[in-house]
Amino acid sequence: MDRIKNHPILDFEKNEKITISFEGREIECFRGETIVSALSVAGITTLRENVKTHRPQGLFCAIGKCSSCLMEVNGVPNVRTCIVLVEDGMTVRRQNGKGVLHED
Ligand code: FES
Repeated sequence: MDRIKNHPILDFEKNEKITISFEGREIECFRGETIVSALSVAGITTLRENVKTHRPQGLFCAIGKCSSCLMEVNGVPNVRTCIVLVEDGMTVRRQNGKGVLHED
């Protein structure tokens, strides 16, 4: 997946390039984009594991109204990563209902 660079009716401002850490992997992104957006561009689309079925889950509503994108961010579990913006040095990890799936 790639970022939209040119759009017929929308302008995209290119903000400052920053870095987040996803399970120990450094990911470059731009200030102002959501965590899910940054992860998607890096090829990471599995955001968590279903508590009951253990099946992988990815982006669903993208407006903060479900639980598909819940991740641990800076040590805080259950963050809706589709509506939270990246911050330089942020750490992000996948989780299931019992906690973090992957240690750094
Ligand atoms: S994808 Fe539904 S709350 Fe984030």
